Amino acid sequence: MTAAEKYGAMVDAFYAQKIWVHGNDTDDDVWAGDTARAFRFDPRRELDANLEVIASYVQPSDVVVDVGGGAGRVGLPLALRCQRLINVDASPGMGQEFLACAQEAGITNAELVQSPWEEALEVTGDVVFSSDVAYFVRDIVPFVEKLDAAARRRVMITLWSFSPPNRSAPIYRLVYGEDQAPLPAYTDLLPVLWEMGIPADVRFLPGGAWWGQELPQTRPQAVEFALQGRWLQPKDKPRAAQAVEANFDRLFAAESEGFRPQWHGDYRELLITWEVGERL
Ligand SMILES: C[S@@+](CC[C@H](N)C(=O)[O-])C[C@H]1O[C@@H](n2cnc3c(N)ncnc32)[C@H](O)[C@@H]1O
Repeated sequence: MTAAEKYGAMVDAFYAQKIWVHGNDTDDDVWAGDTARAFRFDPRRELDANLEVIASYVQPSDVVVDVGGGAGRVGLPLALRCQRLINVDASPGMGQEFLACAQEAGITNAELVQSPWEEALEVTGDVVFSSDVAYFVRDIVPFVEKLDAAARRRVMITLWSFSPPNRSAPIYRLVYGEDQAPLPAYTDLLPVLWEMGIPADVRFLPGGAWWGQELPQTRPQAVEFALQGRWLQPKDKPRAAQAVEANFDRLFAAESEGFRPQWHGDYRELLITWEVGERL
């Protein structure tokens, strides 16, 4: 099996398990509503340490393409630092938040192409960027080939060290009695790039995860915290809450700042980047 076939098989296994738990909801926009709002940030905020590094690759004269740019968490701050920003995202819900956020921030050089990247026509840029998207892409080789073909100077992919939809895996096991199928992570993408002959640089970015920073203050809030995310079928919530309660002292450490989840790994963001035209 090639690295690309293994990558696709992991994505297939994740979605097959999801259908087993949730039924087939593939017609829905899974990124809409509260999820899209959770990805919305003030574009004029001070850059965090990871965004500082990402922005350092962008020049004021650049056209930047943000593939799966969501609500513009990264793309809109970049729009303030480049000539033009094009967000190509498949989700109407994310697109709505992106456009509203750009308008509220008075950003006029950011545009939305609402489309899967694989189907987007004639979108090119000096820098083609994609953050937190590759875990979900089954056919990773054509996706990456298109990133490379669309870029005039550089491709940039950022991923977290564990795929975020798997961050509740230990709780998933408690509720569903089996391991949650993992989506591919950077450890699965790098061999694919190697097979493609792409000599990518890999940089560990300095800052930690932007989500889940506020610790729950009470025991009921901690149980609620453990059950966050789209992995849990709503009908299973009462028995999931019981399972978390039964394992509470193993799952949380009581600290002065609140209840600290013990199953959370040390999330690090990785930047995988290459200049176009480079080949092994
Ligand atoms: C986890 S969110 C990341 C959003 C944004 N890049 C960020 O880092 O805040 C994943 C986004 O990728 C988009 N997406 C997933 N697969 C895509 C594809 N094949 N083409 C375009 N967008 C895609 C989803 O619609 C969603 O907005």
